[in-house]
Parts: sequence; structure tokens; C-alpha cells
Amino acid sequence: MRFKLFLCYILILSSISTNAQFELIQNVYNKEVKVLNGNWRYIIDPYENGYYNYRYEPFDQQKHPWASAFFLDSKPQSPSDLIEYNFDGMDTLSVPGDWNSQKPELLYYEGTLWYKHSFDYIKQDESKRCFVYFEASNYKTEVYLNGRKLGVHTGGFTPFNFEVRDVLREKDNFLIVKVDNKRLKEGIPTLNTDWWNYGGLTREVKIVETAANFIQDYFIQLSPDNKNMIEGYIQLNGNNIANKAVQINIPEMNLRKKIKTDEQGFAKIQLKVRNIKFWSLENPYLYDVIIEHETEKLIDQIGFRTIKTKGTKILLNDEAIYLKGISIHEESPLRDGRAYSEEDAEQLLDWAIDLGCNYVRLAHYPHNEHMVRLADKKGILVWEENPVYWTIDWENEATYQNAENQLSELISRDKNRASVIIWSMANETPNVPARNEFLNKLAAFARTKDSTRLISAALEQKNYNDDPTIRTIDDPFAEVVDILSFNEYIGWYDGLPDKCATITWKIAQDKPVLVSEFGAGAKQGYFGDKGIRWTEEFQEDLYEKTLTMLNKIEQIQGISPWILVDFRSPRRVLPKIQDGWNRKGLIAEDGKKKKAFYTLKNFYNKK
Ligand code: GCU
Repeated sequence: MRFKLFLCYILILSSISTNAQFELIQNVYNKEVKVLNGNWRYIIDPYENGYYNYRYEPFDQQKHPWASAFFLDSKPQSPSDLIEYNFDGMDTLSVPGDWNSQKPELLYYEGTLWYKHSFDYIKQDESKRCFVYFEASNYKTEVYLNGRKLGVHTGGFTPFNFEVRDVLREKDNFLIVKVDNKRLKEGIPTLNTDWWNYGGLTREVKIVETAANFIQDYFIQLSPDNKNMIEGYIQLNGNNIANKAVQINIPEMNLRKKIKTDEQGFAKIQLKVRNIKFWSLENPYLYDVIIEHETEKLIDQIGFRTIKTKGTKILLNDEAIYLKGISIHEESPLRDGRAYSEEDAEQLLDWAIDLGCNYVRLAHYPHNEHMVRLADKKGILVWEENPVYWTIDWENEATYQNAENQLSELISRDKNRASVIIWSMANETPNVPARNEFLNKLAAFARTKDSTRLISAALEQKNYNDDPTIRTIDDPFAEVVDILSFNEYIGWYDGLPDKCATITWKIAQDKPVLVSEFGAGAKQGYFGDKGIRWTEEFQEDLYEKTLTMLNKIEQIQGISPWILVDFRSPRRVLPKIQDGWNRKGLIAEDGKKKKAFYTLKNFYNKK
């Protein structure tokens, strides 16, 4: 009898409509949050047996009143009941953290894995609203709280949140999350990538509590056209947000301004400022910006600077800069697996600073927010990238929407970070009509979301007039981007390092050039003649010859060689040299620096 009652309870719950994904909450750093870090129970489910019945139909409580769906966390109500799973008897995974690096049997796992976390929650008061906020989860995530589906998110590197209205209770909440990291032809990224497909709750999960009517979003940056004007907007959320007073206060500027929201709870910001301390490389100055609305007081640390191009120059606060960069994958130095913590970010950025960098290219997907908030503090410029990588399903409208959603979430999260200067639309994608249309749409969308930053992408190149000694950019997207970037591997995939001396570059467009990748593989500690591939000397020689070649490009305004640290890739299988690692790092995965690290460091020191 009790089991039937239990099922009735589930029937009622699941009949309540599920919440769609909620607009992203800006800056949860300053919200009252309950972080759900820790050991979560998990079930590996390659056949998705916890989601489909034996006829491969999704469990539907109306049609199949079985308790076998994992998201119900069913318990036998009597000794005769049949339940063929039990989270509470399972092993645990640490959250945050990819699953691949935590269990040997999960290193190559690609499929569905279910997580369960139990927690109590006491709201400050009944008027508060609660959201479950995921910093990232790779790749497709379905979220259930106390048996109720909150929603679905696709994309492995950007935050998302769901409102948990009346289903959150004080005791014994169970949050069950289905994560599926299968690579998909129609995915963003698609089936083929040169990085490890880390799956799972790779970053923090937290309960965010807000006022009934709260500051859901804001954009506060220096106008690109007027260095004495701070512009942007505030967006409130709730059912009483029209014609409301919001106050912006920047104490250090003796600036306090009241603005009023419109019928939609939206208010534009225009603040005239004088004698502002610009955020710069030498002085990455961050102001406390306080936004107040009724009972809520939100503080963010924001740097004010302008970034633009003029002819072939990149101007930071109207001064030309050279981007002394390095490309970085989001892998935890020394621990293994996806990086997620402030310590991971500190280590990676400190290595970049040690290399002499003032700029990092965060490849090939949005990294965790610690990277950009630390870059703000350290005075490092940042290229952030949407994972539109290699051979995307360009003709598929759902694929475009997925790419646009992920880009929207990235821009939404980081639009107030001074360090972020470039949004990259793609990496090494083929110059075909469907791709050109896809990227043109994406660039136009990015510019509507944020007109204060520059757009780029790793473009295609070819021999100039079929002359193999002259290279040029061969890509219509070059007319759309603000900065011309391309990856080149002369001396590694294309001839040997001596070939660099035979090549010149002829770039037609009057825009800055930023070489987004070059490099060579080397096994750290393998020394020998520079003519022997995989030795540190080969890599060192390629860097010396490439830097000489690229320095001749008159429009060149920066480089971000591939790559700071060796990184895991299933495509790299050469025994005793690669063993599942891409060896183009200047640092090995154990932190040991290679000879080419010092070649690049010396080059930057002379810049
Ligand atoms: C490409 C690509 C990288 C890849 C690199 C390599 O340029 O952008 O993601 O890892 O080449 O082949 O090592």
C-alpha cells in the first residue's frame, strides 16, 4: 500500500511542469550561496538504464509507474519490492571534478553517469528564492531535485542555473544529476577534438539564494567611444521590478547614482567619470562597484579600460600593445584532470607570468571563472573561445543554436572582466559557405551581446598566388573579425624548422595580426641533436626559427604559441613519447620546463 502511495507522490511531483533553464545569474560570487562540494554517490550507466525502459522509452510516470528511473531515488517499501539500484550503496566521486581522472575505470569513459547528493537546506526566510547553479558540467546535463526534473543543459564549459521553487525542503533533499559526455556529430564541439573528453560535474555546484526581486544581471564597462563614460545596464528579476530605484555606488570615484527601471525591470547605465584609474597591464586597477536595490547589496570588483584596433595596431587605453602570449588548455597542473580551482588558475597564470606573458589564449572552450577573475587582478589580457572547433555540423540549425547559447553564456558570465579583450568564434574551421554563414551569424550575435570587445578566430591560410614560399590568409571571415589570427605549424606538420627561413607572409587586410598557434612536440628530458624529432633541442630550434620568421610580419601584434603545458589527448599514442599526451607544451605535466620555455622567455624579455 505504502509503495503505491509513494508512486502517487512521484506521479504528482512529476506531473508538475519542469522549470526551464533560468536566465544566468550574474556574479554568484557575491550572493548567499551554499556550495555543494564533496563526495557525491554515482552510478555508471552506459545503457542509460536509469532513464529508458527496455523498449528504450524514457521513463514516464504516467505511462510506466515503475520506480526504476534513477532520478526517483526509489527505496523498497517492502521486502518484496523490486528496485535494481541504490545510490546509497555506491562509491563516490569528488565534486567539483571530472570523472575520468578520479577512477582508473573511468579514464576513457564516454557515456551517462548519474550523481546523487543529499543535503539539508534552511531558507533565511520564505520570501527568498533559490536556484541551483552549475559552474559547468560536460556535456549534456539533466537535473532532478527530489524527483522533479528541473531542466536540461547542453554544453560542457559554461554556467547554467535552474530555479528550485517549492520543491526544496529543509531536510533530506536529493539532487540527482544525469551527465552524458558522449561526443556528438551535431555537438559543439563535435566528434573530433585534440583534447581529452573529460566528463561530469567539472566545476562547483551551489545553491544560490536571492531576494524575491533581485539583481539578476548587469553590465558595467567603460564606453569604447568615451573614456570618461561608464555604460551598461541593470536587469532585475522578480514579479515586482517595474519602475524600481537601483543605486550604483563607486566609492573611490565619489560616484553614487540612482536610476529607475522600466516596465521590464531594466535600466540603462550612463555614468560620467573623471580622473579614472584605468585598468592596465602595469596597474590592473579594480574598483569596488556596489549595486543596491531594496534589501540587496551586491559588490563586484570591476576594471575600466578600453580595447580597440586602429589599422594594424591593438590599442589598450589608446596605447599600442604587443600580446606576449601563450595558449592554455584547462587541465590541472600536477593534479591531473580538468582544472577548476583558484589554486589551479594561480599555478597556470603564474607559469605564464614566469614565461614573460601579458596575455593568455584560453583554448578551445571557456575556462573556469577563476582564470578571468585572477587575470583581472594580475593584469593579464585574455582571449576566450567558443568550442566551435574543426568540422562542426554547419548546416544543422540546432547546432548553430547550441553554439550561440554557449557563446551567450560565456559573454554573460565574463562581460564585466577587464582582462577579457577577445571573443574567439572558432578554431581552424574549413572555409566553406555553410561555415562562413555560421560564423558570420555568431560574430554578429557576439557584437549585439557585447560591443566593447574584439572578435577573432583562428583563420585559414594558403600559399600566395600558388607560390609555396609566400603564405597568406585565405578566409572570408577575415573581413568580419577585428583581429586576424591563424595557427601555423611550419617546421612541425609542414616541413622542418629550416623551412621557416624560406617563408614570407603577405597579409592583405589592414588589421592587426595575432598568430594564435605554432609549436612542436618534445618529450621533456629527451635530449639530442636538434635534427631529431621529439628532442627538446628540436622544439627549441623550431621556436627560434619561427620567432624570427613571424617577427618579419609587419602587422604582427602578438603570438600565443601552442602550448603552456603538455596535455592529455586520445589522439596522441606514440609509445614512450606521447602515451596519450600532446607533447607541444613548454612545460611537462609534472611541472618540469623544457628548453624552448627559455627561448620564448628570452624573446619576450626583449620585446
Ligand atoms: C591545432 C589545434 C590544436 C591542436 C594542435 C596540435 O592547431 O588548434 O587544438 O592541439 O593543432 O596539433 O597539437
